Amino acid sequence: MRHPESILVLDFGSQYSQLIARRVRELGVYSELHPYSMSADEILALKPIGIILSGGPSSVYDPGAPHPAPELFSLNIPILGICYGLQVIAHALRGQVDTSARHEYGFARLFIDDRSDLFAGISGRTTGEEPDATPGDVSTVVWMSHGDALTRIPEGFGSIGHTKNSPICAVRNPAKKIYGVQFHPEVAHTAEGKKILSNFLKICGSRGGWNAESIIETAVDDIRSRVDGNVVICALSGGVDSSVLAALLSQAIGDQLCCIHINNGLMRKDESEFIIRLYGDRLKLRYVDASEVFLRNLKGVSDPELKRKIIGKTFIEVFEKEAGMIGGARYLAQGTLYPDVIESVSFRGPSHTIKTHHNVGGLPEKMHFKLIEPFRELFKDEVRAIGRRLQLPEELINRHPFPGPGLAVRIIGDVTEEKLRIVREADHIFIEEIRNAGCYDSVWQAFCVLLPVQTVGVMGDQRTYENVIALRAVNSVDGMTADWAHLPYDLLATASSRIVNEVRGVNRVVYDVSSKPPSTIEWE
Ligand code: XMP
Repeated sequence: MRHPESILVLDFGSQYSQLIARRVRELGVYSELHPYSMSADEILALKPIGIILSGGPSSVYDPGAPHPAPELFSLNIPILGICYGLQVIAHALRGQVDTSARHEYGFARLFIDDRSDLFAGISGRTTGEEPDATPGDVSTVVWMSHGDALTRIPEGFGSIGHTKNSPICAVRNPAKKIYGVQFHPEVAHTAEGKKILSNFLKICGSRGGWNAESIIETAVDDIRSRVDGNVVICALSGGVDSSVLAALLSQAIGDQLCCIHINNGLMRKDESEFIIRLYGDRLKLRYVDASEVFLRNLKGVSDPELKRKIIGKTFIEVFEKEAGMIGGARYLAQGTLYPDVIESVSFRGPSHTIKTHHNVGGLPEKMHFKLIEPFRELFKDEVRAIGRRLQLPEELINRHPFPGPGLAVRIIGDVTEEKLRIVREADHIFIEEIRNAGCYDSVWQAFCVLLPVQTVGVMGDQRTYENVIALRAVNSVDGMTADWAHLPYDLLATASSRIVNEVRGVNRVVYDVSSKPPSTIEWE
């Protein structure tokens, strides 16, 4: 997509690098993350209005420490270095960086020595009663995490802020528009971090205005001109990404979009009905009930990875057949997101290492479709914002994630119709109770797992020997790590009692109190 303004974030390996890009985007300017090793030509080709150098775990003097292209500082593009990024600037421009007397980690009070540009409008005036403060000082709380520190300012630079432990905590060269801060403005702990980043965007001459509305406008134009009258196919699963994708494509090309919803028999209760109700009148939707073939192919299979492979392969076969019946389809739309595209862990890697991730498992290679991926540059919360703008119901936009292989990975052991009934009914009750307790939006993901054990119970005067359901609810930001959710006992009690009473075949309910790591969110 074209972006009139963009900020380039060069990644030196900080855990916060993606966060910098997200913050800049929240401020209305498109931002992309690239490895620190990008050449000057590659940088110029992207025409950024500014460059941010991220933090990183290295020391500038380490053998093999990451350093940017030497020409970076003469490109005439405003630069902001954060933490290691500041040290890289000082090192390249012949300042001095030394190992700090103490590693500084946590909150610090930043005293502002100049409020003319980067720190304009910083308001945290001290009362003089806080430790380290004198009346009249302007200071604000910042988040520090560094070992090395700047001990000599490069020529042409001046200091604009200090903390008790870092006499040179923020510097600038206004003529060259190069700035550096030792703290992390991108993290929420830095009270006025957003203001500081916004000031940097002003220094870059940004006009802002990159938001859900403008993204939709650009994407619609892009899709129309690329597709040029051809038919686009989209696999609609009912998840947030594919739902927003279908709504966007429908706005862009109307009847040229043909959606296929495959019911693989592994969905949550009433899922297909929900999708048909939501989209049936809005767009061309082919509904395929393929549950029988999925269940047949899964018969007797217990190994989790084999289940996934079989489901993926069956999906491709069914999709291929259905797509073949749609005349003139040349494009396939996929809801690939930015985190799928960037190699966030390997900041030394090439800039566009694409993970072998495809929402619809290898379809494009096999079917020679041209791909349309309007969300390749977006984070999930941005896709949600687009969904809201396109007036999709909140119920859909805030839905918990659901794995592609569906309930098959929530039945430990082989998958049968009867087990699917049990886990589907139990899941429905659990989610209903979470909603009743007003906890749905504060929990990241919740579901039930059917365990492959029977236990003894007693119902009325009868001894029972039935199945166990495990309840799982987690809090997380991105699914990479997660804590088990501390759900209210009353909610757990009601869910447990309803599941045992209402779901035939269950006589015991347990709650999973494991976090990720070491456990995963799903049980398989
Ligand atoms: P784990 O279990 O790995 O899950 O901690 C992290 C997140 O990913 C989802 N998940 C999957 N999603 N296909 C998917 O589309 C899969 O095979 C799959 N396995 C796990 C899981 O629901 C959680 O949100």
